[in-house]
Amino acid sequence: MAREAAPRRRPSPAMAMRWALLVAMAAAAGAEDPYRYFTWNVTYGPISPLGTTQQGILINGQFPGPTIECVTNDNLIVNVFNYLDEPFLITWSGIKQRKNSWQDGVAGTNCPIPANGGNYTYKFQAKDQIGTFIYFPSLALHRAAGGFGAINIRQRPSIPVPYPPPAADFTLLVGDWYYAAGGHAELQQSLDSGAPLPFPDAVLINGVPSGATFAGDQGNTYLLRVSNVGMKTTVNVRIQGHSLRLAEVEGMHPVQNIYDSLDVHAGQSVAFLVDLDQPAMDYAVVVSTRFNADGAPPLVAVGTLHYNGATARAPGLLPAPPPEDIEWSMNQARSFRWNLTASAARPNPQGSFHYGTIPTSRTLVFAGSGLVVVAGQRRYAVNGVSFVIPDTPLKLVDNYNIADVIEWDNVPARPDGRAPRQGTPVVRLNLHEFIEVVFQNTEDEVQSWHLDGYDFWVVGYGNGQWTENERPNYNLVDAQARHTVQVYPNGWSAILVSLDNQGMWNLRSANWDRQYLGQQLYLRVWTAEQSFSNEYSIPTNAILCGRAASLQH
Ligand SMILES: *[C@@H]1O[C@H](CO)[C@@H](O)[C@H](O)[C@H]1NC(C)=O
Ligand SMILES: *[C@@H]1O[C@H](CO)[C@@H](O)[C@H](O)[C@H]1NC(C)=O
Ligand SMILES: *[C@@H]1O[C@H](CO)[C@@H](O)[C@H](O)[C@H]1NC(C)=O
Repeated sequence: MAREAAPRRRPSPAMAMRWALLVAMAAAAGAEDPYRYFTWNVTYGPISPLGTTQQGILINGQFPGPTIECVTNDNLIVNVFNYLDEPFLITWSGIKQRKNSWQDGVAGTNCPIPANGGNYTYKFQAKDQIGTFIYFPSLALHRAAGGFGAINIRQRPSIPVPYPPPAADFTLLVGDWYYAAGGHAELQQSLDSGAPLPFPDAVLINGVPSGATFAGDQGNTYLLRVSNVGMKTTVNVRIQGHSLRLAEVEGMHPVQNIYDSLDVHAGQSVAFLVDLDQPAMDYAVVVSTRFNADGAPPLVAVGTLHYNGATARAPGLLPAPPPEDIEWSMNQARSFRWNLTASAARPNPQGSFHYGTIPTSRTLVFAGSGLVVVAGQRRYAVNGVSFVIPDTPLKLVDNYNIADVIEWDNVPARPDGRAPRQGTPVVRLNLHEFIEVVFQNTEDEVQSWHLDGYDFWVVGYGNGQWTENERPNYNLVDAQARHTVQVYPNGWSAILVSLDNQGMWNLRSANWDRQYLGQQLYLRVWTAEQSFSNEYSIPTNAILCGRAASLQH
């Protein structure tokens, strides 16, 4: 024993050198990822995107809110001060919050930041993500008044993206907009009183219906990051005289197909490359609504792609929208394919995880129900259960084992025709399950579904009622992964999800009137083996409220 131990105390020079090198490498690998600090003051303030003043929600005086520019794995520390007269939360849509649903910023995970000066410091990491994401207020109808902004996560220098670096990139926050003199509360009262949201009044690009300008040099290529931050409406994006080369979809690299225009549904993001290869002039950037209820004419926002030095507008009409045709849109969606050889935020190829060969452990079929009357109120529901926000966030309830709040698994795995009711269902799922989820739309408007904490593969879109017979037609090879999927009128969309992120995760309609009126629920991804390598513990600054208010951290 002593003989064996001796060499270890007196290593040879070669060993010592190797040891020193190992220590240095470990220190480098263990070096903390960079921190970026933000202090955000959230206030009401006058905005007039349509020329007439209305009450907006501003972040540090800005509408839309400031853009977060960061790099993969950066730690983001955002101290949000709420100077509104109502509780407030921000959610970080598409940021996966690995092991950390504590920072998701929705009513089921976080106590609201108290009104009139309360604050909460979000601490999270842009872990293993590259791409175009957004943040927005998640409570009430705050989103209709602003408070949203872009999160652009760039790659680390050591990780190549599958396209040459663009000369610059432009952020476009687009979407429907409502004029409401009294701000979001007016729209909220309308929903509360049982009236549907009216038809929107306009479409905005970065807070204005016209005037947003993106300037570049002839001969260069630019990346346009487009996110639909609207309340509910699908939009189509196109640029006069230019084609769009799809480069990123919600943090994943697709095959770089060329499009004349792209449909972007509520809550979705896409990024595309544009070559400035035309005569030096000004070209229209057009965003218009799609699939309007009652066949109303589309609302149109027009921005400008300006070639530096240009003094004239390009002649001709604005680029025409694609046909108002669900099949057209569905075919475009099916053409989005994962580039299997491209790397994501880590160097391994995207296709190295063969999702199509993994057996699924269960199937959930979620049907959004149209406006139903539940307890005398007009509501939306999922499989007959209209979600009611509990008095204590579900994540806290689960953490502290508070009784009588969560209705575990109290939503059928498929629609069962029961009369609609109100509830607070949480579906229990096991960490590392691999599941199939089908979203069924039985109504006439496009729906959009979002899952927090995850990307998922969209393996099929179809018309009519989904059945098991659809499975042979799934794309099990190179389906696009994303976090928000559209479901066409009277149709379905099927996704596969690898449940590798423990936590309490919101599954919701990204059509905000539907979400507000109950078309949402929560999934708890969990394992009995409690470990910090699976999930972080409650943050020391977590706000405690409701039935958790008197508890200690
Ligand atoms: C936020 O508000 C506080 C208190 O009113 C003020 O001191 C601070 O400068 C503001 N910060 C920003 C970034 O506007
Ligand atoms: C509120 O802000 C202060 C700094 O101004 C910070 O120390 C504190 O942790 C914040 N509160 C929460 C709950 O994050
Ligand atoms: C896919 O990614 C690879 C690797 O970066 C790239 O070379 C290739 O051009 C991409 N293919 C398509 C069709 O976009």
